[in-house]
Amino acid sequence: MVPKKSILKKKNSGAEGSGFQAPKGMHDILPQDQAWWEKVEKAVKDLAEFYNFQKIETPILEQASLFQRAVGDDTDIVQKEMYSFKTKGGDFLALRPEGTAGIVRAYIEHGLGSLGQPQKLYYFGQFFRHESPQAGRLRQFHQAGFEVIGSVNDPIYDAQVILVFDRLLSALKIKDVVLKINSIGCKICRPNYKRQLVNYYKRYERELCESCQRRLKTNTLRLLDCKNEICASFKEKAPNFFDKICANCGGHLRAVLGYLDEVKISYNLDNLLVRGLDYYNQTVFEFFAEGSKVGALPAGGRYDYLAELIGGKAVPAIGGAVGIERLVEVMKEQDVKLAVKSQRRIFFIHVGELAKKKSLKIIEELRESGILVAEALGKESVSAQLKVANKQGNQIAVIFGQKEIFEGSVILRDLKTGLQEAVILDKMVPEIQRRFKEKPFDPSLQLRQNKL
Ligand code: HAM
Repeated sequence: MVPKKSILKKKNSGAEGSGFQAPKGMHDILPQDQAWWEKVEKAVKDLAEFYNFQKIETPILEQASLFQRAVGDDTDIVQKEMYSFKTKGGDFLALRPEGTAGIVRAYIEHGLGSLGQPQKLYYFGQFFRHESPQAGRLRQFHQAGFEVIGSVNDPIYDAQVILVFDRLLSALKIKDVVLKINSIGCKICRPNYKRQLVNYYKRYERELCESCQRRLKTNTLRLLDCKNEICASFKEKAPNFFDKICANCGGHLRAVLGYLDEVKISYNLDNLLVRGLDYYNQTVFEFFAEGSKVGALPAGGRYDYLAELIGGKAVPAIGGAVGIERLVEVMKEQDVKLAVKSQRRIFFIHVGELAKKKSLKIIEELRESGILVAEALGKESVSAQLKVANKQGNQIAVIFGQKEIFEGSVILRDLKTGLQEAVILDKMVPEIQRRFKEKPFDPSLQLRQNKL
């Protein structure tokens, strides 16, 4: 039995409210926001096409153990934030908290390793983390991601993935972008560094927050990422990884930076950047918009060990993902202007019962000629229909009534000036097309619509 009281929240249940609300940290994307999302989706798609990334989609549910192994059993994502449950059939599944693990699972499962390498893949989808909702932090959010999987561990791919995200931010006109980059080394150099870090933090063990006391035993690198004031104060004097990095990882990092210099992407080397997922090695990166509260925009890194971690052969890989809600939020914060789409749409108005009966046929005629149509067929009075037309910012109304049926004509009305003229039905389409061509689109009409 579903406990009725717990789902029927009282808050915000106004006169028209049902009492239901979207779950905490989850949002509706309403029609008036779709233009922002379309802009981001188009920019992602254009970049993917240009840089030859192919689209991949994986299920929203995966075995929970995939994320335990890939993202890491001791990470916050797996420990605290994963929506996991046992199905009626007894499987233990999780709503995906991120996309990379599922994509590498698919790469192995479908033998993508036997196709041309590397596989350059991109995705756009929904992800779930049970976090405390705050600016830029949702429980259901969308990510766009780019992954380069297979071939060899070549730093040029690290730079290419970073370049794609840099270009995405420019395409969306996001300014004041900062790129932080670091190397977290490999199986050879990282353990030495971790030991040094443990020795250093052990001295302060009692002063550390509860999570960091746990991290000291399980997830040492994350000590560098704690936001707690006391823990953060120890970071400054913590051992620097750049003193421990092996020649191979040092060379890799220098090469990535060299490629970024070539394409004039500036960066801040940040030896405290460690990321919240365990599968990374060598390059890690995060982009931010200065002055914004939303946190990291595109973020990612190299994950050469991930395929092995989930039972496949070793496959070099690099990728990243960005939260779409955060991109939209930053665009709004920075007052990015959306291009107003030209609205070549007429508004169809019927007058009387018989005209209503014949209206679907005339609307079909318009559709077949490529003219977009809006209407309020359920409203009977002309003034009520005109009101909707004006609210929607349409420029031309096609009015069709008893007299027009008799004469085989329609009335074309300019909704801005109110001027109207009768046109015989055979001339309706060419006349509308002529008017659209002659009269440049007036964005003020549509802006009015967007504000409504
Ligand atoms: P991540 O840093 O966990 O990495 O997430 C990537 C981006 O997704 C973040 O920088 C942020 O823009 C957005 N994001 C993450 N969590 C939330 C949230 N709760 N609410 C809103 N936006 C969020 C990954 O997910 C890796 N799979 C990225 C990657 C791909 N690494 C290699 N390939």
